[in-house]
Amino acid sequence: MKITMIGTGYVGLVTGACLAEVGNDVLGLDVDARKIGILQSGGVPIHEPGLQPMIERNVAAGRLRFTTDVDEGVEHGALQFIAVGTPPGEDGSADMSYVLQAARNIGQRIDGWKIIVDKSTVPVGTADRVRAAITAELAKRGVQTEFAVVSNPEFLKEGAAIDDFMKPDRIVIGADDQRAVAAMRAIYAPFQRSHERMLVMDVRSAELTKYAANAMLATRISFMNEIANLADRLGADVEAVRQGIGSDPRIGYHFLYPGVGYGGSCFPKDVKALQYTARQHGMSLKVLGAVHDVNEAQKHVLVDKVVARLGEDLTGRRIAVWGLAFKPNTDDMREAPALVVIDALGKRGAAIVAYDPVAMDEARRVFAGAPHVSFASSPAKACEGADALVIVTEWKEFRSQDLDTLRRKLKQPLLFDGRNLYEPALARAAGLEYFSIGRP
Ligand SMILES: NC(=O)c1ccc[n+]([C@@H]2O[C@H](COP(=O)([O-])OP(=O)(O)OC[C@H]3O[C@@H](n4cnc5c(N)ncnc54)[C@H](O)[C@@H]3O)[C@@H](O)[C@H]2O)c1
Repeated sequence: MKITMIGTGYVGLVTGACLAEVGNDVLGLDVDARKIGILQSGGVPIHEPGLQPMIERNVAAGRLRFTTDVDEGVEHGALQFIAVGTPPGEDGSADMSYVLQAARNIGQRIDGWKIIVDKSTVPVGTADRVRAAITAELAKRGVQTEFAVVSNPEFLKEGAAIDDFMKPDRIVIGADDQRAVAAMRAIYAPFQRSHERMLVMDVRSAELTKYAANAMLATRISFMNEIANLADRLGADVEAVRQGIGSDPRIGYHFLYPGVGYGGSCFPKDVKALQYTARQHGMSLKVLGAVHDVNEAQKHVLVDKVVARLGEDLTGRRIAVWGLAFKPNTDDMREAPALVVIDALGKRGAAIVAYDPVAMDEARRVFAGAPHVSFASSPAKACEGADALVIVTEWKEFRSQDLDTLRRKLKQPLLFDGRNLYEPALARAAGLEYFSIGRP
């Protein structure tokens, strides 16, 4: 099938590449000429494991192309996927300007049947707004044509996005047009060969499903962070508690890891956007209010531990920070807890030497002009002469560090582990003063 992917960010690029991989003819359209330039010259503007070879393969096979030309984009796809950003507005609402611009672009150009697929995470009612935007543009042109608007929220995780897309747990389709449902079944057939994974529902339920999923995951994280903070006070071990509750199949092990709070481009904004939607309908989502508040506070827990040990004034202190991306296997730093940690340490006078396996280019951009932040070329180099090591992201390569070497590199053997990567007893045996989250 001919598909246009509007937006070539984390979601659009992965979705477009995976749809090309199974044989579709995909055109990626973006307004960001820099991104499209990189893609057209054989590069990939983001870090996502497995994405580069998949793009190369499909570009070489002629199934994947990129453009900034809106006319070409709208002309190409019988299916127009909208995968543009929906960042948070100041009041917490999702900023719909990119989605609606994409819709207007379509309305200004179509003259025959097309299926418009909302892949972005969008508030309930957006499919109606997309439909209205297209209808208004058609009316201006005096063109009459049928089209369908489908909700198809995306559940991939950055860092494992290709696997998630190729082997989805479920594919949610919100549609009231049977031709559109049939087309979506055909598109997704290669991704559900072993058993049916497609859940077809009404559009509003599909839109709400995405927010409810992210809100539930964020809730688990904040819940576990509160239990970890309580365990800290009680002298209990949250890791034992995690296993003790995760073994109950009604609870399960996923998303029960305490840490320095959730970040990224989805959970924070989606929690806020769902609260905003509820407020607009005269409801307050009390659980989500607490989830957000706990998360904001959690980003400071590690810094509080540093301050408790080294004092409020960190002037002249050098602190190594491992992990900048909001989670492992991505270079995405949107709402990363590392931003808050580095800012809070810097405000107290500390000099930061940071290391991340892939997010350093992005971090250099984010911290441009921040004199207290410098970067090291390896985890060990970041620790040289540092008064403490603070771990913010759980990259695999941090798990297997030689703790003796680490102690020797550090000026003071202080390890503040925001992700509970090490066994406390082993860290102490290596001569480190070890602080983690919710463990004695
Ligand atoms: N990142 C994730 O892990 C993830 C997972 C599931 C769902 N989502 C949702 O998917 C959506 C996209 O997220 P993302 O992380 O890929 O965003 P992103 O910021 O990485 O990419 C969005 C892209 O859209 C482009 N764009 C904006 N307006 C455009 C227009 N009118 N025409 C063409 N391109 C346009 C931007 O230039 C940008 O490249 C969001 O709604 C997000 O909540 C994201």
